[in-house]
Amino acid sequence: MLLLVLQFALSFLTLSRAQSSLCRTSCGGIPIRYPFGIDDGCGSPYYRHILACSDTGKLELRTPSGRYPVRNLSYADPHVLVTDPFMWSCKDGENFRPTRPFSLDTSIHFKLSPQNEYLFFNCSEDNVIIEPRPLFCEHFPEHCDSSCDSASYLCRHLPGCSLALSASTCCSYYPKATESLRLMLKYCTSYTSVYWKNVGDPHPYDQVPEYGIRVDFDIPITTRCLQCQDPLKGAGTCGFDTKTQSFMCLCKEGNSTTHCKDHDIAQHNRRVHVIAGTVTAVSAAGAFGIGAGIWYLRKVRAKAPVTHGVQSNENRLF
Ligand SMILES: *[C@@H]1O[C@H](CO)[C@@H](O)[C@H](O)[C@H]1NC(C)=O
Ligand SMILES: *[C@@H]1O[C@H](CO)[C@@H](O)[C@H](O)[C@H]1NC(C)=O
Ligand SMILES: *[C@@H]1O[C@H](CO)[C@@H](O)[C@H](O)[C@H]1NC(C)=O
Repeated sequence: MLLLVLQFALSFLTLSRAQSSLCRTSCGGIPIRYPFGIDDGCGSPYYRHILACSDTGKLELRTPSGRYPVRNLSYADPHVLVTDPFMWSCKDGENFRPTRPFSLDTSIHFKLSPQNEYLFFNCSEDNVIIEPRPLFCEHFPEHCDSSCDSASYLCRHLPGCSLALSASTCCSYYPKATESLRLMLKYCTSYTSVYWKNVGDPHPYDQVPEYGIRVDFDIPITTRCLQCQDPLKGAGTCGFDTKTQSFMCLCKEGNSTTHCKDHDIAQHNRRVHVIAGTVTAVSAAGAFGIGAGIWYLRKVRAKAPVTHGVQSNENRLF
């Protein structure tokens, strides 16, 4: 009986949330929730203007180098998968198109995943050190990051088109920073990014290569946001004031600085406006979390050897 009541209460809550039009909760079939938002004022201010839903209903990631279609977004293992239409793909074969280097805004809480690997094509041997990666790199990777590996497993087994290129034109490089990517592209005609996708099969078949760029993100968790989302306190949506960037709990009945069951939201709002006008600095400090919250840091993955028949190969560094 209790379960039934609970279930009813929960379904009612999700229903009323779905009906709320404060913040869109998906774009192109990809769920959008905290810390992201595609409507201004939704999600965490750290990720403001980062995702956009195009007029054609496609989710895009904005970075300093352009807008990139988002293929998928995971909150459980926090990462965004993007594709770059300018990157090399199987159908190009050896007809390399002009490309552009991918870059990330490092001031926000994004970073290139260590599961990415870049393949460069037709590099100038005068400027790029191209050589088969020696065995000792497996044990001392810090001594090996300056060369582009011409014996790479991925070059010999391009996902989806093993034989698209003659092996001599391809080498693989693990990017430490987007800066190194820009440099490499001065001397190579084209490139592509491959990430090792976790497929959940037993080790060593748990990762398969796929085209795309995996970008990892952090989820800032604050006690205020948890309180705001709490179903018992009205299941609000975490957001922020678009002028001051201070925390706001978005509710159907209006916004609150605490949660949706807070009494007399309207009156509260009036008071907040006055305060916000005078001590903006204080509320901004609160929003950015001195004592207000902690960053939930993604657990750093164990650098297990990657797989799918690859681990015996000397070219993999991690
Ligand atoms: C609540 O906040 C959102 C986002 O900041 C804003 O768009 C909306 O107008 C606010 N609603 C009210 C009633 O103040
Ligand atoms: C997108 O991610 C979800 C959850 O991680 C996964 O179940 C789904 O298969 C992914 N879709 C694609 C097209 O990769
Ligand atoms: C390969 O690079 C050279 C310059 O290093 C360039 O002249 C040549 O056209 C490139 N080949 C292709 C197929 O793009």
